[in-house]
Amino acid sequence: MSNPFPLGEISIETFLREYWQKKPLVIRNAIPDFQCPVDADELAGLACEQDIESRLIAFDPSADKWHMEQGPFEESRFASLPEKNWTLLVQAVDHWVPEAHALLRQFNFIPNWRIDDLMISYAVQGGGVGPHYDNYDVFLIQAQGTRRWEFGGHYDEHSPRRDDAPVMILPEWQAETSVELNPGDLLYLPPRIGHNGVTTTDDCITCSVGFRAPATHEMLRSFTDELGEQIGHDERYEDPDLTISEDAGVISDEAIDRAHQMLLNHLQDKQRFREWFGRFVTEPKYTEQQIDSDDEVNSDELIEFFENEGVLLINEGSRLAWSGSDAETNFFADGQSYSLKTQASICLAKHLCEYLPLTAETIDIADAQSVALVCTLLQRGLLYSETDIDEDEA
Ligand code: SIN
Ligand code: CO
Repeated sequence: MSNPFPLGEISIETFLREYWQKKPLVIRNAIPDFQCPVDADELAGLACEQDIESRLIAFDPSADKWHMEQGPFEESRFASLPEKNWTLLVQAVDHWVPEAHALLRQFNFIPNWRIDDLMISYAVQGGGVGPHYDNYDVFLIQAQGTRRWEFGGHYDEHSPRRDDAPVMILPEWQAETSVELNPGDLLYLPPRIGHNGVTTTDDCITCSVGFRAPATHEMLRSFTDELGEQIGHDERYEDPDLTISEDAGVISDEAIDRAHQMLLNHLQDKQRFREWFGRFVTEPKYTEQQIDSDDEVNSDELIEFFENEGVLLINEGSRLAWSGSDAETNFFADGQSYSLKTQASICLAKHLCEYLPLTAETIDIADAQSVALVCTLLQRGLLYSETDIDEDEA
């Protein structure tokens, strides 16, 4: 297992205070003896899978043209690629490869809900996705081969971009800094910093720890949609204190304030907001891959399973978080919320959020709320056992 601190000599406190969301940082040998969670062949294999998001991006310098193909790919596609100037990018490798999930967990000095996925790219000489910016922070870890990263300048949705390219290319981008990264080196970039990674050897692999940051417009839409569905239709604007108006055409400031306040009253309901926010930010990356298990596990079977030293593991793709107080905690799992009121179940939720295996030592089987929660998570496919739960029981 690699170093639990993926920032080399830099302390987490210094990183958060000086760099996080503020400025780029290059850390040489941030993860000494870095072990890449997949090799090139495994990555190509993942890109052939139906459920896995992947892209091939190539640049043709003679025609000055960018090309993009979405996966899944046929195995034969990789044999017909040119020698230079292409890259294969595979999203959410942490969902499928436990070692990739373990690497992502090393970044748990940032809260779970802010972390999106581990993308891994493979590139040959000259390969890259071109000069662009991302809306999210990213840690780029050089895993294999070398890559020159040029970066600098703030860009946004108004920045000119090439309209003939299938990926975002900033035509007017000027690099401010250029570094060549070797295996184990890391580059941190805050959101919207222009960057371009050009591969300088064959067999280059880069791992990107990607983050999520909810957009205000999406939050407003989603939260108010839900509020609109929950609020009784009888709640209406009321003005029993209405006085004679000099101008029937005017909407008075009092009316504006009153109507505005009606909405604010709902927006200010912190517990309702907490409950919605937790669900919103733990929505799984790929909703279509959610599975409900056919085998319902009941409490007795589960208790017996733990008594027989059964171990439950957390599905690597699950998004887990908690919020609240010791009196009442909301546990969020893949876009659903569970209100927990017992100390044992709150402890369990916090344990689950560390993605550690669940055993008889880490769950209080006398606590009905804990047992019910685990049964539900098993049913939803967020927890699984490598042995059959019913068989263990027999
Ligand atoms: C990569 O090519 O591995 C990362 C792409 C990026 O710059 O976002
Ligand atoms: Co980028």
